[in-house]
Amino acid sequence: MKRKHLILLGAPGSGKGTQSSRLKKDGLIHVSTGDLLRTEIAKESDLGKEVKGVMAAGQLVTDELVVELLKENLDLKKNTYIFDGYPRNEKQAKTLDGILEGHDYLAVYFELDLDILIERITNRRTTKDGKHIYNLKSNPPKVDGICDVTGEELVLRNDDKEAIVKDRMNVFKTTIDPILEFFQQKGRFVSIDAQQDPDQVYKQIVENL
Ligand code: AP5
Repeated sequence: MKRKHLILLGAPGSGKGTQSSRLKKDGLIHVSTGDLLRTEIAKESDLGKEVKGVMAAGQLVTDELVVELLKENLDLKKNTYIFDGYPRNEKQAKTLDGILEGHDYLAVYFELDLDILIERITNRRTTKDGKHIYNLKSNPPKVDGICDVTGEELVLRNDDKEAIVKDRMNVFKTTIDPILEFFQQKGRFVSIDAQQDPDQVYKQIVENL
């Protein structure tokens, strides 16, 4: 597989985390701003306390906080990354393009019918750190409520309740277009059909590298 940084763009529940788990096996490092923020909340750090209410309401955390957290977790000299959940607006897109100056990268848009996403998300269960993702309908664990890999209890994310998911979708719809246009203009953009099963989605990503 060709080594370039991947920026995964798509609505909540479009499968970015699921594909990141697969791509990690190819040696890329997964960096999810959502997971980083949830870790801060679990640690009850000052940052965690600041963002907890914003995330629980399905709104975006400030650009400044997220970019600091992101930069702290990057070592571009050593690693090739999958960016999951960043950028979330045009300003973040430009910031990330600047961070990646001199590096090869591709933005991959997970395109699908938004109507199917509420069901996908409300049926999602994950480990507390979000690293292992299941779905009660399409990808259930072998033992009800328990992670196949770690044996941990599976949980429903705080912001995965239907009312909050609808707010997250609205935020997505109002912010996504300028991000897509930005990467299209850079000539670093590909759109994939994320409605296919996870194996096909993975295949399509790899074919585009
Ligand atoms: P974040 O954690 O980034 O969440 P998200 O973008 O809303 O995406 P999700 O994690 O919900 O979905 P996913 O696309 O990873 O889907 P998954 O693979 O799990 O952000 C959360 C919050 O953090 C934001 O609201 C904001 O407050 C804050 N935040 C984060 N980044 C920020 C930033 N940069 N700036 C400001 N604020 C930020 O799949 C979903 C389900 O579908 C699973 O159950 C899975 O098993 C199933 N599934 C996956 N693929 C398929 C398939 N192909 N077919 C059938 N089922 C599938």
